[in-house]
Amino acid sequence: MSKKQKQWLGIGIVLVAVILALVVWRVGSGNSGKPQDTEAVEGTEGTQQAEGYVEREPKELNKDLYMDSSKDVEERVAELLSQMTLDEKIAQMIQPEQSAISYSDITKYGVGSVLSGGGSAPSSGNTAEDWQEHINNMKQAAVDSRLGIPILYGVDAVHGHNNVYGATIFPHNIGLGSANAPELMERIGKAVAEEVRATGIQWTFAPTLANPQNELWGRTYEGFGEDVEIVADLGAAFVKGLQGSLDTDEYLDDSHVLATAKHYIGEGYTMNGTNQGNVSMEEEEFEKLLREELLVPYQEAIDAGARTVMVSFTSVNGLKTHEDKYLITDVLKGDLGFTGLVVSDYNGVQQVTGKTYKDKIANGVNAGIDLFMEPNSWLEFMTALRELVEEGSVSIERIDDAVSRILRVKFEAGLFEEEIGGETEQSLMEAFGGEEHRAIAREAVSKSLVLLKNDTVNDKTAMQALSDSKNILVAGRKADNIGVQCGGWTISWQGTSGDITEGTTILEGLQQAAGEGVTVDYSESGEVGASHDAVILVLGELPYAESSGDRSVSNLVLTGEDRQLLETVKETAASAGKEDIPVIAVLLSGRMISIADYIDDFDALVMAWLPGTEGEGVADVLLGEQDFTGTLQYTWTWSPSDIADKFAEGNEDKILFKKGTGLTKDGSSITENGTTQIGNGGTRTEDTQIVGLDLESANYVVEAENFTEASGNPQKGNANNIVYLDQWNKEGASAKWEIWVPKAGNYRLHFKIASESDVSGVTAGCGKDADFDMAELAIEAAKDLNDYQDCDMDVKLEQGSYVLQFDAGGASADFRLDSIVFEYLD
Ligand code: BGC
Repeated sequence: MSKKQKQWLGIGIVLVAVILALVVWRVGSGNSGKPQDTEAVEGTEGTQQAEGYVEREPKELNKDLYMDSSKDVEERVAELLSQMTLDEKIAQMIQPEQSAISYSDITKYGVGSVLSGGGSAPSSGNTAEDWQEHINNMKQAAVDSRLGIPILYGVDAVHGHNNVYGATIFPHNIGLGSANAPELMERIGKAVAEEVRATGIQWTFAPTLANPQNELWGRTYEGFGEDVEIVADLGAAFVKGLQGSLDTDEYLDDSHVLATAKHYIGEGYTMNGTNQGNVSMEEEEFEKLLREELLVPYQEAIDAGARTVMVSFTSVNGLKTHEDKYLITDVLKGDLGFTGLVVSDYNGVQQVTGKTYKDKIANGVNAGIDLFMEPNSWLEFMTALRELVEEGSVSIERIDDAVSRILRVKFEAGLFEEEIGGETEQSLMEAFGGEEHRAIAREAVSKSLVLLKNDTVNDKTAMQALSDSKNILVAGRKADNIGVQCGGWTISWQGTSGDITEGTTILEGLQQAAGEGVTVDYSESGEVGASHDAVILVLGELPYAESSGDRSVSNLVLTGEDRQLLETVKETAASAGKEDIPVIAVLLSGRMISIADYIDDFDALVMAWLPGTEGEGVADVLLGEQDFTGTLQYTWTWSPSDIADKFAEGNEDKILFKKGTGLTKDGSSITENGTTQIGNGGTRTEDTQIVGLDLESANYVVEAENFTEASGNPQKGNANNIVYLDQWNKEGASAKWEIWVPKAGNYRLHFKIASESDVSGVTAGCGKDADFDMAELAIEAAKDLNDYQDCDMDVKLEQGSYVLQFDAGGASADFRLDSIVFEYLD
């Protein structure tokens, strides 16, 4: 045969194969979710068809063969796999958001997993009972599908079942790192598991195993410490608590949940601490770091029984981890021998290389991701992945491997035997947010406190003087603010200042703890009176999560409100003749912040981190019998400008508090090398004091929910992970944001607003002083309340601090405000 003849024959074979494939597809596509009446078609060697996959009819449905729990897990996996169509397999690989899928679609497609993103509560309400009902309806919908494969429901219970109103909220991991108590971690894990399981959920996306190196990163508080050893110890203990101990009957029983080791890998090492950023390192250097450090906590979590790993948004030398086959397949599944499932992060696959969504999916699947957290585009994902398999860009072996891993985890976790809304679930509901769990959280709070400074005041240490005080002033709005003490990932994704859930504020805790003859006064603004003999000043960061928490070196500072509070305390103490009473600062923060410039104003400094709902834990140490036991697990520099070189040799004088620092009430140090190092000095920050949100580090986006003041109580909501402010049509509704403009110029402000009708009577403005001009915004009706439109306003700004104000007191109808984007014009 000549070359030409061979070519013609080849083309002919391809054509026949394509026609047959089309016939097969038409027959199959009419009844998705049912086994397809397909015939095996052999492709032609050397053509695309030959590499592609043509579906064969699966084995006849026989549930008994895989529902039999006396069989070995691997046997059940293989049996079930052999009864699945390609569509059913792909449906196991997607994870829609609960708000983006209906019960009937779960049944129709046989969807394998669903998540609640941060702050995404059932539409019926946010009580534990609302969750339980909604989850159980979803579970039933999955069981009603042809194969009846149970759904695996995932949620971010990262410091308690934190989306749900009334849950026990534990300190964020940075505080638990300071407590450094593996046995306590295990108890916390168990309590969290019980609250999660009470609502029917079997999987939490926790713990985070990052060891953050740079506090500019908005997720620093999710890491236990800067060293992998502590992360490994506490991470493994938490996994054990969540899942139950391996090789015991309690392991993954119906009062435990699956844990997630996240985010794989290297996220604490991005340049400038940028969230979702890039780790830039010589290849060998990264390899060394990977093998000697980064993998350690993962290995330990896996050894403790962790069965799911979430991939990080991070890139390493420009390659997104979501498409890094070496890291996912070779290292994690190969070298570490991980046989569980790998889940992507929220829309994570959309960030990888590829011209089209389909190309990106191919890269993600081929890198080794098994389950895809594609909250909204799950249906498009399914169609694309099917095409990729048929075209040969993704092999059926890869699909079978992914699905086997997902099914394996489901079988191991006993999901096929789970009784929906069963007895255990009901009894766990009784303990939801109950005393027993709150007692554990309270203990965790008291153990997480770190005393960083404790000077002598009138012959006693400041903490001893506090113990002897009879009339204590508690100062600052943050002292009485559950939302601030909980931080991000609480009720909503970003967290919110204010009375967001049940719990005890620090002020309430102190008031309850005051002994006989001791009074505790409260002043929001910090007015010290002649009767006061000690001041507890509560300062701190406002809540944030993920990228919104990223800071530049110039704005990791005390807020303007806190500095004002400190001034008021000093001035009023002076005029009351009370300059010598001890001033104890309690700092609520998810990381070190620049404090060096104010440190002389405090006699004692207590780092309370983000303690959660049990404020009594703070009082137990400050006013009670307990002493401090917590130690710093991060190196704290004089200035944020020194963070980047804090580990470099010769830079010791830039360290304000060494890792390991922690004092007791009598002023002695808990660890040998952990003494404070106040008195040296790195870069001072006075010249770069910035008040408000630095637009540059916020990418010129002001998120609506991060207001510094609001009246009329606009509600915070969540649509597809966009947090917004809603219900503006209340009397007097307005909000203010403090911002820092780094560069003078003309700006166009885009107010991202969604409304179902035209709205008049809404004004906005931006100014330096209390009085500035407000102009009306032209708000036009959009498609719906998730369809954000730009309402523009042009302003000329100098460099400096501004107040951005929004006034909806006269709004003619309701609308949502998502964010305000600053576009620099010239
Ligand atoms: C976060 C994850 C989280 C996921 C689901 C992502 O934005 O990076 O930590 O598990 O959302 O809410």
